[in-house]
Amino acid sequence: MFPFAPAVRVPARDRPRIEVRRPEFDVPEDAPKYFYRGEKGVTALLYALSAVFPDGERMFIEAVRANQDGASDPELRRAIGAFVAQEAQHGRVHEAYNDYAKRRGFDLEPISAGVRRRTAAMRAHLPPVVRLAATAALEHYTALMAELVLGEPAFSEGVDEAHARIWRWHAAEEAEHKAVAFDLLAEVSGSTFVRLRSYAFTSVMFPTLTALHTLHLMSRDGSLTDARAWLGLLRFLFVEPGLVPRVLPGWLDYLRPDFHPWDRDDRELLARFRAGWAAG
Ligand SMILES: [Fe+2]
Ligand SMILES: [Fe+2]
Repeated sequence: MFPFAPAVRVPARDRPRIEVRRPEFDVPEDAPKYFYRGEKGVTALLYALSAVFPDGERMFIEAVRANQDGASDPELRRAIGAFVAQEAQHGRVHEAYNDYAKRRGFDLEPISAGVRRRTAAMRAHLPPVVRLAATAALEHYTALMAELVLGEPAFSEGVDEAHARIWRWHAAEEAEHKAVAFDLLAEVSGSTFVRLRSYAFTSVMFPTLTALHTLHLMSRDGSLTDARAWLGLLRFLFVEPGLVPRVLPGWLDYLRPDFHPWDRDDRELLARFRAGWAAG
């Protein structure tokens, strides 16, 4: 999948249904502390992401709701309802997961408190359409990460299964609803400038904050000076599975003026997830 290549868009009728699941997860208290293959740095990175989900996703829900009257297409209105329901479930599950992280020595609350302050500032100072453009941009990030979580064998092999199940479920639902904020933004704004301005902003903020949050957790965990933790994290980011090089083509893809999230075909990944989910 190359950037700027002519895309074959999955037609609306062929896109997987946005399915609202209400799962209960129970991660054992004696699961490995460093659940991603024993890697301290990667575990800190994953918890750093989980720390921002509940309040970040509440901001997404608010941004979509604040703009939903602009949706004239009944199909899009239905999709918005499913999007809101899915993100609300993600918030609920990740709040419990973040409590679990605290019991295992990763206190995520200082990070979540920072997210609450920033999203409150966004609500106070940014118009609804800009908050929606930021949501669409961040949803592209989560969709790209979902491709990796669902498609990368390293996420299924060697990762503690109770943790992996939460990450795969969230990834699958991000893939299912990846076009909702984007399609609503296209209806209420349609401006490539508005879309890409927020993308530029989030492309600086999201990786920077994620790096700072990861460093904070590594520091609290005492692994900031642990060479093995760093090697494992750098390997994860750049070599195997190589988050950065794997995500980069998809990052560039969003810059195309005619980009649409379903130019990236996740149907096979989702079909595989659904088969595994149904099997328990
Ligand atoms: Fe989510
Ligand atoms: Fe989402």
